[in-house]
Amino acid sequence: MPFPVHRMRRLRGSEALRSLVRETRLHPGQFILPLFVCPGEGVRREIGAMPGNHQLSVDELVKECAEAKRLGIGGVILFGLPESKDEMASGAYDDNGIVQRAIRAIRRETPGLLIATDVCNCEYTSHGHCGFVKDGDVDNDITLGWLARTAVSHARAGADMVAPSDMMDGRVGAIRKALDAGGYAGTPILAYAAKFASVFYGPFREAAESAPQFGDRRSYQMDPANGREAMREIELDLEEGADIVMVKPAMPYLDLIRQARDRFDAPIAAYQVSGEYSMIHAAARNGWIDLERAMMESLTSIVRAGAGIVLTYFAKPAARLLG
Ligand code: PBG
Repeated sequence: MPFPVHRMRRLRGSEALRSLVRETRLHPGQFILPLFVCPGEGVRREIGAMPGNHQLSVDELVKECAEAKRLGIGGVILFGLPESKDEMASGAYDDNGIVQRAIRAIRRETPGLLIATDVCNCEYTSHGHCGFVKDGDVDNDITLGWLARTAVSHARAGADMVAPSDMMDGRVGAIRKALDAGGYAGTPILAYAAKFASVFYGPFREAAESAPQFGDRRSYQMDPANGREAMREIELDLEEGADIVMVKPAMPYLDLIRQARDRFDAPIAAYQVSGEYSMIHAAARNGWIDLERAMMESLTSIVRAGAGIVLTYFAKPAARLLG
C-alpha cells in the first residue's frame, strides 16, 4: 500500500530539496554554439528567424568567440558563407576559404576555445545540394573526395574537430583516412550520424543561404520515420572511426538519443536545430510561452534523454543563466 507511506510530493517541498534530488544538471561546458561566418568587415547581420544569431564577418566572429569562451561554453561550430558558389563547392576546401580564415583568426585571438567545423558542401554549391550533382542526384563517391579535402583543410587551418553533416555513405571513413594521411591522426570526428531530412532546418537555410535550388535532401538525409535505421547509421559511423556521434534534430528525436545512449558507449551529441530555436522564440514573442523557461526545459530534456553534448543556438543565454 504505497500511499500514505509514500508521498512523492515530500521531495518537492522546497527549492533546496528539489535541487538535492535533481537528476539532470546542465553545464555551459556541454554546449556548442553554432556560428555563421561571412565575408567583409564589421558585418553583424541578424538572422530574421533566429533572434540573437547573426551572420558575422571574421572580426565580429572573433568577438563572439571571446564571449563564448568567457561564458565557459564548450566550443563553437563554424558554418561558412563563401564569397561565391560553384558546381564544385570549391570554396569549401580552399585553404583560403571563409571558414579556414575564420579558424586561423579564432586560434590567434581566442586560444583555448574549442573550434569545431561543419564539413558539408551545401553552403558552397551553386545549387545548394550537399555534393556533386549528377543526373539530378548527389553522387556519393565523388562527394567523398570533396569532404575529405575540406576536413584536412580545416585541420590544417587549426580546427580542433571536424563534423561532417552531409550524410554521404562512407564519409567518416574517407575523412578519417585523409586526416591520418595528412598528419592529423589526432583530430577527432563528430559525425552527424543520424541526421534526418527535417523541416526544422528551415531557418538555418536562411542563415547559411544553403537551401537546395531544386528537389530536396531526401535521397541522402534520413526518413523521419526510421529509428532502427538511425541505430545502423550510428553503428556504421562508429565503425568508420567517428569519435562522437550525433542525433539531429534533437527534441523530435529524443527517443533516438535515448536509444543511442543505451546502445553505444561513445559520447552522444544532439543538435537542437534552428527550427526548434525559432519556434520557442516565436511563441515567446507572442507572449504564449516564457522564453527562459522554455530554453532551459528544452535543453534539460535533451540532456535527460542521453545527450552529453548539445549543439544549440541558446548556448550563450543558457550559459549566462547557469553562470
Ligand atoms: C548542412 C547543415 C544543415 C544544418 C547543419 N548542417 C542544413 C541542412 O542539412 O539542410 C542544419 C542546422 C540547423 O537547422 O540549425 N548540411
